[in-house]
Amino acid sequence: MDKFVVKGGRALRGEIEVGGMKNAAVAIIFATILNEDKCILRNLPDISDVVDGFAILESMGALVERIDKTTYSVDTTNVVCGSSPYEYVRKMRASYYILGAELGRFGKAHTAYPGGCDFGVRPIDQHIKGFKALGADVVCLESEKSFIDCTCEAGPIGNTVYMDVVSVGATINTILAATRASGITIIENAAREPHVVDLANFLNASGAMISGAGTDTIKIKGVEKLHGTDYTIIPDMIEAGTYMIAAAATGGELYITNVIPKHIDTISAKLVEMGVSVEEYDEAVRVKSTGKLSPIDVKTLPYPGFPTDMNPQMGVLMCIADGTSILREGVWDNRFRYVEELKLMGADIQVDQSGKMATFKGVDKLTGAQVRAVDLRAGAAVIVAALCAVGTTEITQIQHILRGYENITEKLRAVGADITLIQE
Ligand code: EPU
Repeated sequence: MDKFVVKGGRALRGEIEVGGMKNAAVAIIFATILNEDKCILRNLPDISDVVDGFAILESMGALVERIDKTTYSVDTTNVVCGSSPYEYVRKMRASYYILGAELGRFGKAHTAYPGGCDFGVRPIDQHIKGFKALGADVVCLESEKSFIDCTCEAGPIGNTVYMDVVSVGATINTILAATRASGITIIENAAREPHVVDLANFLNASGAMISGAGTDTIKIKGVEKLHGTDYTIIPDMIEAGTYMIAAAATGGELYITNVIPKHIDTISAKLVEMGVSVEEYDEAVRVKSTGKLSPIDVKTLPYPGFPTDMNPQMGVLMCIADGTSILREGVWDNRFRYVEELKLMGADIQVDQSGKMATFKGVDKLTGAQVRAVDLRAGAAVIVAALCAVGTTEITQIQHILRGYENITEKLRAVGADITLIQE
């Protein structure tokens, strides 16, 4: 079993470059099914979710070529509808975008029920609501091997759909299904995340007519066909935020490049509230900390609120802040699974009965221990905790971390961390 071994207590100093955004990349990779043509995708993160996404497309008949570490060419002309392989799809949450893209191109879709991190129940009723609004019959086959089938005999037809909850996945899937539909689709109460905007920008660069992405009302005027394009993915705001927190937790100073400062506004604001210095530049941010942190209250919310994918990393800062902090989770039911791991390192955390609010009493120091990366962002949190802890931490289940953080050992070692990947 592979693991990270981290010797803590070193302040991180230097420059670190952020890669492309995972959650934009995985949507755009599957969106290329709609292009029915050759696309070049640049600034893709070098992570296993990207490799798996292209492997799925390849097994569906796409021609995939890796041009360099972060650039791929993909030609989806010969993709076969309904041919995504069960085992791969089950590994990856974002594989549900195959449904929207197949429905948009073929008028029907078939794929396995998606996998992904365990945050409690992860319903897809709003995705289905979007597909049904465009005229699809949707059947979920619940058996040992669960599948989803969608059919639109005459192809998707534009309609207005109101999302009952703000959902990134349902917004993107409905955009995908509507891009080549006949007529106009309007999505109300749409998610406003930067990756929704990036997906819409990619599709527009391919000939789609989508307006309003980034607001809660998105309008899609269906077009008959898309064409190939050359597109650069935006930087990953969660990777940037994770390194900002690593600088703050270790009392160090990091100059973090390939960042869109607007996307990390709420993270910057909360760090400043804790007494950390954050300077924004055009495409970079400098985070400087003495290691002395004031307690704060945070609630995670859909964008532009504080991101749920930064909940665990922010929790680590609260563990070592000078007083009591409160962290409320406003998106997922079961986001505090990392708490048990941080407790093994000496943290004082109480999660309330609802499982959606945690109280952190700051301790002087965390101590190295044997912990698990229970999901992707929980994994990022235990790395940050290990970096600022006294002693050595061993982190197992690191496949979750490698799904979403590119070259994390190399990047951290270059700024002074003592972290090693042990392959067993
Ligand atoms: N929801 C429903 N019905 C649906 C869809 C969602 O009730 O049909 C609920 C969910 O249960 C949740 C809330 O709506 O309470 C938000 O879920 P959303 O659909 O926005 O999440 P997602 O699209 O499955 C993406 C990211 C997650 C990130 C969330 C929230 C991808 C591949 N994943 O998931 O990222 O936490 O948005 O911002 O884009 C991560 O990167 O570590 C990660 C988990």
